[in-house]
Amino acid sequence: MNVVQAIELPVSDYQDLSPEELFERTVAAKKALGDQVLMLGHNYQRDEVIVHADLRGDSLLLSKLAAERSQHPYVVFCGVHFMAETADILSRTKQTVILPDMAAGCSMADMAAIEQVDQCWEELGRVLDVENEVMPAVYVNSAAVLKAFCGEHGGITCTSSNAKAVMEWCWARREKILFFPDEHLGRNVANKMGMPREEMIVWDPFMPYGGNTKDAIRKARLILWKGHCSVHQMFQPEHVAYFKKTYPGIKVIVHPECHENVVNQADLVGSTEFIIRTVKQAEPGTSWVVGTELNLVNRLKNEEIDKQVFFLSPTVCRCATMYRIDGAHLCWCMENLAQGIVVNQISVPEDEKVLAKLALDRMMAVS
Ligand code: 13P
Ligand code: SF4
Repeated sequence: MNVVQAIELPVSDYQDLSPEELFERTVAAKKALGDQVLMLGHNYQRDEVIVHADLRGDSLLLSKLAAERSQHPYVVFCGVHFMAETADILSRTKQTVILPDMAAGCSMADMAAIEQVDQCWEELGRVLDVENEVMPAVYVNSAAVLKAFCGEHGGITCTSSNAKAVMEWCWARREKILFFPDEHLGRNVANKMGMPREEMIVWDPFMPYGGNTKDAIRKARLILWKGHCSVHQMFQPEHVAYFKKTYPGIKVIVHPECHENVVNQADLVGSTEFIIRTVKQAEPGTSWVVGTELNLVNRLKNEEIDKQVFFLSPTVCRCATMYRIDGAHLCWCMENLAQGIVVNQISVPEDEKVLAKLALDRMMAVS
């Protein structure tokens, strides 16, 4: 009997294929795989990718789906690296998670390295009884090792949709929160909860004691890591002012990763899923300006034709890393999978997985 050994198909073979061919071949590979594969798509993904997703959503919803859908041996995650890692941490042992392009990272997640967080914890420990006074809370936009850090120190993860509930959980248990890596999400939620400015400090990982005096550290209740999203920092208060002046009655809806100067002027603030749901459910004839990633806003604009939908920034701001997942990479990983070859597997080391899951499970319990 002749046994034909499958050979990995190179991604370069896909780069010059037409969108139509990529679409048809991806559909065919998906059909051949059937229930073997579950394709998850984050709301920021390109149209050519999201069209194939079985389920789409924000990072919280996708984390929950990854945890629930244990019947599919393969999960193809169309999103960024930290999301695929989360899926791997929450998935059942026999599930294999695939990220179509390994270069799909997150610039915010890269702003906190474990060595810097360890150093911060050690410096805080010189001033405070850190294990009893400080609760570490990490935004899911972070490497698995940071989620593991939180798991190990009694801490928790959060997403943009449950950050308030998570912060309440933290303060019910410890006096202070170390919130990383997004300074803006932490501050925006604390502002909404009425926290005085004097109780928040910013931790710059490149400065001794984060750039703070020991006295300021003792007084703080919220320690905000100096990190941000390169996409959401593009939105400015003058953009909000322009739309409010030019389109009286327009509603401004933004993501909580935006600067507080933008968030404080917006009518509504929430996760990508909240933004989509709110605009979709709005009255026909209403006008909306949206401050989040461009792919999501363009899709809303095209789908909600009975409403006016604008993008908040005058410049194009796409998440360059989300954009790495294109039709070619998706087709490439699906066709390889259809012939039994796993490319780009995301596999979190087992010890990290156990600790990171503790922090994620605590979050799931409050979500
Ligand atoms: P959501 O949790 O709102 O989907 O946001 C994820 C993200 O990366 C926003 O930049
Ligand atoms: Fe990361 Fe910002 Fe892209 Fe979200 S939009 S994945 S926070 S770089």
